[in-house]
Amino acid sequence: MAATIIDGKAFAAEVRGKVAEHVARLKDDHGITPGLAVVLVGADPASQVYVRSKGKQTVEVGMASFEHRLAEDTAEDELLGLIDHLNADPEVHGILVQLPLPGHLNEDLVINAIDPAKDVDGFHISNVGLLGTGQKSMVPCTPLGCLMMLRHHHGSLSGMDAVVVGRSNIVGKPMAQLLLGDSCTVTIAHSRTRDLPGVVRRADIVVAAVGRPEMVPGDWIKPGATVIDVGINRIDAPEKGTNEDGSVKTRLVGDCHYASCAEVAGAITPVPGGVGPMTIACLLANTVTACCRANGLPEPEGLTA
Ligand code: GUN
Repeated sequence: MAATIIDGKAFAAEVRGKVAEHVARLKDDHGITPGLAVVLVGADPASQVYVRSKGKQTVEVGMASFEHRLAEDTAEDELLGLIDHLNADPEVHGILVQLPLPGHLNEDLVINAIDPAKDVDGFHISNVGLLGTGQKSMVPCTPLGCLMMLRHHHGSLSGMDAVVVGRSNIVGKPMAQLLLGDSCTVTIAHSRTRDLPGVVRRADIVVAAVGRPEMVPGDWIKPGATVIDVGINRIDAPEKGTNEDGSVKTRLVGDCHYASCAEVAGAITPVPGGVGPMTIACLLANTVTACCRANGLPEPEGLTA
């Protein structure tokens, strides 16, 4: 039987709707406008696209967007100075420094300079520690989006076998913590895992976050399992022909081989239109949450882990 498609695009629109409602209430009842500051250093084309999209969606839900674009050769002290300034600015409730940073900047140092209460990416070591110990924290956006989709599809995840393929700090590790928090039995698999197909075949929930196009084939998936595909990879698609400049057209694929996985899985997120749209929606959700916490107000329901 064909898998249920988990429509991340529609679900993200729902999340943005809830965020917009909460923002309107904060403005009407308390005269507070949540604000998100995004810092981009350099001119990486993919980062520019993300930052533009973040700014646009921030404004669309009624929040204030503050964009700071710095030159590629910005000195570390200057960037740290800007972060100090944003930490102290009462109109800024969330701060995001777009990664990757140019090579001369120390990413850990920069991320850990952000006030943890404004760290809407959830990358600060304080937030990592709070999440790991089951305390209230800011939760990284992509894993939060995956968790929301899983809870929406299954209700309770308690007792399920979950395999996270990929051990990054941004997705794999926090995803595993969140699944553990929802009482799954969690395995983190990676490139050195022995018998990866066998490990993945045990899972009721597979979260693939390795950044390798179509790495997980359908015959690794247990019949009826739920597949969450975090990968966004651009590959050549000669079947689509060529561009005006003669280059081969491309298409986006996930870390899972969609057609074969969808034949076996019970539910699956597509690429594009699955996890991707949820990431920015969760960034907006985290910004509202940070704003409520900063002002001692109740947090929106269903928008946090
Ligand atoms: N670059 C790619 N993904 C992300 C993200 O989630 N947050 C930040 N800050 N940079 C990124």
